[in-house]
Amino acid sequence: MIRAANEEDVVLVHEIERAAGAAFREIGMAPIADDETPPARILHKYQRAGRMWVATNAVGRVVAYLLADIIDGNAHIEQVSVHPHFGRRGFGRALIEAVAAWARQKGMSALTLTTFTHVPWNAPYYERLGFSVIPGADLGPGLRDIRGREATVGLDAWPRVAMCRPVKSIVAVGFQG
Ligand SMILES: CC(C)(COP(=O)(O)OP(=O)(O)OC[C@H]1O[C@@H](n2cnc3c(N)ncnc32)[C@H](O)[C@@H]1OP(=O)(O)O)[C@@H](O)C(=O)NCCC(=O)NCCS
Repeated sequence: MIRAANEEDVVLVHEIERAAGAAFREIGMAPIADDETPPARILHKYQRAGRMWVATNAVGRVVAYLLADIIDGNAHIEQVSVHPHFGRRGFGRALIEAVAAWARQKGMSALTLTTFTHVPWNAPYYERLGFSVIPGADLGPGLRDIRGREATVGLDAWPRVAMCRPVKSIVAVGFQG
């Protein structure tokens, strides 16, 4: 099930994020695995703004979360992470479709995100979900700022791209809790 996050969910993010990040160590991207998890005050900000969602499994355990911003008038996926024990069961996709539904309801035209080009569960995954790479020259000011900040903190040590998907694409969602 996908639902808006409540205040209690915020404390669960740390463990999900640490566990989800660990896969980056296995592909030689240890600094990403070691990245700080988002501080509680930032998570509370998303939660209060109604831009944090969680996925729960069949017994109600929170197994994944997504944070969204509004950037250049579009819904921007700031972070989506699934606990690896519950990976590849459709939770990530269901969270992304929930944000797409939210964005559609708010009258936004696209979903955007930035991600690593070559990591199998990053750009190739999003391509499967209907996202495509935004050419550098077409980046809006907000996305351009984000890419600039990412370069400053060293994320561009590996190739990264911004991607987008029209919110009108509706993708059937199912997942196994
Ligand atoms: C990216 C992520 C959110 C996907 O969530 P998920 O619930 O596992 O994915 P879904 O069940 O929706 O989709 C499964 C597809 O994701 C991709 N995928 C997920 N994990 C993968 C892995 N370890 N290796 C390769 N592909 C993977 C595959 O395309 C997979 O399809 P397949 O099982 O048919 O091969 C999750 O892998 C994750 O939290 N990764 C770590 C954090 C991260 O990189 N977040 C994105 C930041 S931009």
